[in-house]
Amino acid sequence: SHPIIFDTDPGVDDAQAIAIALRHPEIDLLGLTTTYGNVDIETATHNALLLSELAGRDIPVAQGAAGPMVNPRHPAPAHIHGANGLGNIELPDVKGKKDPRNAAQFIVDTVNARPGEVTLVAVGPVGNLAAALQLDPALTEKVKRVVIMGGSIREGGNVTPVAEANMFNDPHAAQRVLNAGWPLTLVGLDVTHRCVLSQAHMQRIEAGQGELGKVLAGSYAFYREFYREFLGIDGCCPHDSCALAWLLRPELFTTAPGHLSVVTEGIAEGQTLFAPEGRGFIQDRWSQTPLAEVCLEVDGEAVVEWIADTL
Ligand code: BDR
Ligand code: CA
Repeated sequence: SHPIIFDTDPGVDDAQAIAIALRHPEIDLLGLTTTYGNVDIETATHNALLLSELAGRDIPVAQGAAGPMVNPRHPAPAHIHGANGLGNIELPDVKGKKDPRNAAQFIVDTVNARPGEVTLVAVGPVGNLAAALQLDPALTEKVKRVVIMGGSIREGGNVTPVAEANMFNDPHAAQRVLNAGWPLTLVGLDVTHRCVLSQAHMQRIEAGQGELGKVLAGSYAFYREFYREFLGIDGCCPHDSCALAWLLRPELFTTAPGHLSVVTEGIAEGQTLFAPEGRGFIQDRWSQTPLAEVCLEVDGEAVVEWIADTL
């Protein structure tokens, strides 16, 4: 099984992915670490605790970054995930308490306890990973892999014409994390936009998930309105679940090795740049950075079937 730490800003599609991380028999969820992004940090932590409780699990939840490292905070518009991050549905009270440690410290401690074994799956702005690297630079040698939902290579952006939300919300952190030199896979809009979770899929999910299913289905309904109104799509892209789909079903994805950079300033702030390996450009500054694995294509039908089957 895969021991993972799941770093998240829940968020409707985060909630679906958290449910998979909690339920999938091949995932050993060591902890949830939270970041601001889709919602403020307190709300993110509340939602992470709630989802774990609704699944009947007692998973450590460690709170992390309240905003970007350098840039001013861009609060997410409430019409996407709702003001409470879960489609403004009424939520039960949370009983559990967050871990006393900060997310970055939790990551450092957990990885050091099991060197070479832990995969970090990050599906929000990546400030917690950048902070963990600051605490322990040798983390790059000790994680098994880092899987990030974020960025866009050929697909264009979803916050600006060129920037994907998780990169845009902390481009300085992203630039560090993508170039730290650890084994890294980027799962971006190029593949997540090919996956559409339909109402029929969600009905199957709701039926199988008890109390948790009500929250997943209720928040999905709100998120679906956003997709319908602003993107003209019937259904929702399960962005964050795609990172877990890659981890467990990599054969559904086509990847390419290359060098990544994130634009930190100016009009293209948050844009992900990708230089394919071995193309032999005249100016080789782009190939000075570590190699990453980048998802470019996917069998989207198979991924959403996998999500619905898992849940
Ligand atoms: C990413 O941004 C967030 O709104 C989603 O949760 C996902 O992590 C997609 O760009
Ligand atoms: Ca997210």
